[in-house]
Amino acid sequence: MQLLDGKKVSEDIKNEIAAEVQKMRDKGEKVPHLAAIIVGNDGASLTYVGSKVKACERVGFESTLIKMPSTTSEKELLKKIEELNQDTNIDGFIVQLPLPPQIDTQEVLMAIDPSKDVDGFHPENFGKMALDMSTFIPATPFGILELLERYNVQTQGKHTVVIGRSHIVGRPMSILMGRKGFPGNSTVTLTHSHTKNLNQITSQADIVISALGVPNFLKAEMIKDDAVIIDVGITRVEDPTTEKGYKIVGDVDFENVSKKASYITPVPGGVGPMTIAMLLKNTLLARENGIK
Ligand code: GUN
Repeated sequence: MQLLDGKKVSEDIKNEIAAEVQKMRDKGEKVPHLAAIIVGNDGASLTYVGSKVKACERVGFESTLIKMPSTTSEKELLKKIEELNQDTNIDGFIVQLPLPPQIDTQEVLMAIDPSKDVDGFHPENFGKMALDMSTFIPATPFGILELLERYNVQTQGKHTVVIGRSHIVGRPMSILMGRKGFPGNSTVTLTHSHTKNLNQITSQADIVISALGVPNFLKAEMIKDDAVIIDVGITRVEDPTTEKGYKIVGDVDFENVSKKASYITPVPGGVGPMTIAMLLKNTLLARENGIK
């Protein structure tokens, strides 16, 4: 079994990005600037956004974190988005999800200028992705593609089973694995809460990408020998023995599944750090393509 070490690969990518930023600095050019909006006080979301901002510092980007109260109205959030759309100093920005229930997520995502939509969630960018056009690819699927590519994991002609159809991970992942090229050229099955006989389907998979958010869901009995296992789950589970009082648990029963798999991502240290690295990569692309 070979570990797909997202921590290490994400460090490599961040070093590559930092070198690009240094070149910009040396030439006296403006360095990339990422902004993130977070609405409310969800602990996990605050942690993720905090990591994104910290990663910006690490590679030499500028960053702006905008915290808005959980009572923020949709109109107030849309106003803030319009400000960021107009701000020529900001190359790209994200609105951390999920949003409080009084706000319509789709309306918010559609308000983001597609040229600054480094999450790749705007319908224009999502559509371009589906049509093989050059665009921002959502950071988590982009990170998984990058891991597969850098470890030269073969995807052509393989059966990829994606578990979970979220707009952020499962849906785009299913599109990307079926696209022409590498990584891609896979035969894809997208499974979800209405899928019947999931075990039967996962047992036929060469590659399983689990983005469900149910700790230890994928068991060794559900996969075939030498399958490639990508674990996107990052659920917080109470653990009084840790300093923070919780630990992060993936969708995959790592201890047993890793004995059968050919490649597997750990949690933590797999897909999570790759997501952040690819958000930075998209921000660098936004800066390079931008007319500033
Ligand atoms: N919430 C969970 N993952 C993501 C992500 O990739 N981007 C945003 N904006 N919110 C998220």
